[in-house]
Amino acid sequence: MSTPGFIAVTGATGAVGGRVARLLAEQGARLRLVVRDPSRAPELAGAEVARATYDDADALRAAFTGVDAVFFVSAAEHPERIRQHLTAADAIKAAGVDRVVYTSFLGAAEDCTFTLGRHHWITEQRLREHDLAFTFLRDSLYLDFMSFIAGDEGVIRGPAGDGAFAPVARDDVADAAVAVLLGLLSGHGGHEQASYDLTGARLQTFDEIAADLTALAGRPVRYERETIEQAWASREKYGAPDWEVEGWVSSYAAIGAGELAWVSDAVLRLTGHDPLTLRQLVERHPELIAGLRAGGTRT
Ligand SMILES: NC(=O)c1ccc[n+]([C@@H]2O[C@H](COP(=O)([O-])OP(=O)(O)OC[C@H]3O[C@@H](n4cnc5c(N)ncnc54)[C@H](OP(=O)(O)O)[C@@H]3O)[C@@H](O)[C@H]2O)c1
Repeated sequence: MSTPGFIAVTGATGAVGGRVARLLAEQGARLRLVVRDPSRAPELAGAEVARATYDDADALRAAFTGVDAVFFVSAAEHPERIRQHLTAADAIKAAGVDRVVYTSFLGAAEDCTFTLGRHHWITEQRLREHDLAFTFLRDSLYLDFMSFIAGDEGVIRGPAGDGAFAPVARDDVADAAVAVLLGLLSGHGGHEQASYDLTGARLQTFDEIAADLTALAGRPVRYERETIEQAWASREKYGAPDWEVEGWVSSYAAIGAGELAWVSDAVLRLTGHDPLTLRQLVERHPELIAGLRAGGTRT
C-alpha cells in the first residue's frame, strides 16, 4: 500500500511524533524524520532521516525542502521556545512547503492564563501569515501526565480550584494528526485553515482524576487545592527557573479559570474512534502508572 505525498515528521524521537511516523509508515507514506539526534530516530523502512533543531534555520530549511507537508511538533519547554517555533515556521515557508500540521494548545490566545499557550498562539499567527495550508491541533493537557503529576506522595497539588478539563491521550493526538495529514495529501480532507480542539470525552475535576488514579494505582491519590502563592512555594524545591515554574503553575490556574473546560468531538470525527479514557490509556501503556505505584516526580 502506498500513500501519495512526502511528509516531514518533526519530533519523531518523541511520543506524538514517533507514533505519527510509525502509523504513516504503516500506511506506506514516504517520510523524512526530522530529529535532533539521528541515532535515536525510529527505524522505519524507507524513511529518510534529517538532523535539525529548531534553533538551526538552515538545517530546518534543508530538512523541509521537497516535502509536501510538515508535521510540526511544538518544542520542549525552553526559555527561547517562541524564537525556536518562529524559526521552524519560517523554515517551512522558506522551503516552499504547502501544508503544515502544528500541535498547538487548547484555547491558545495572546493573553491566555497558561503561559505556554501564548507561545502556541504566537506560532499559529506566524503560520497564518505564511500563506500556506495549515491545520492546528489544539490539544488539551495530556492525559498521559495525570499519574506523573501526582508524584511520590500520590498528591496532585495546584491552583486549579474546582475547575474541570478533558485531558487527551497523546495516542489520540497522533491518530488525529495522521488522519489530517493523509486528508491534506489526498486533497479530500477539507482540513486546510482548520483548527481542531483535541480533548478527552468528558470534563473532570482533579478530585475525579485523583479518584481514577486511586483505583488504577491501588494506592490513595488525592488533590490538594493551592493558592497561586502556595503553588510557587511548593515547587521551590525543584530549583527550576521562574519561566518554567510559571508554566507549571499557570497550567493549573488556567483550569481554575475555566479556560480548558471544553469537550470537543474532534478526536472521534477525525479518527473514527472515541478518545481514550485514563483506564484504557493505562491498559495500553502500563508504564504510565508504574511511576505512581513506585514513586515519581511532581511538577
Ligand atoms: N498538551 C500537553 O499537556 C503537553 C504536555 C507536554 C508537552 N506538550 C507539547 O507537546 C509536544 C509533543 O509531546 P510529546 O509527548 O510527543 O513530547 P516528547 O515525547 O518530549 O517529544 C518531543 C519531540 O520534540 C523534539 N523537540 C523538542 N524540542 C525540540 C527543538 N528545540 N528542536 C527540535 N526538536 C525538538 C524532541 O526531540 P528530542 O528527542 O531530541 O528531545 C522530541 O522528538 C511537546 O514537545 C510539547 O511541546 C504538550
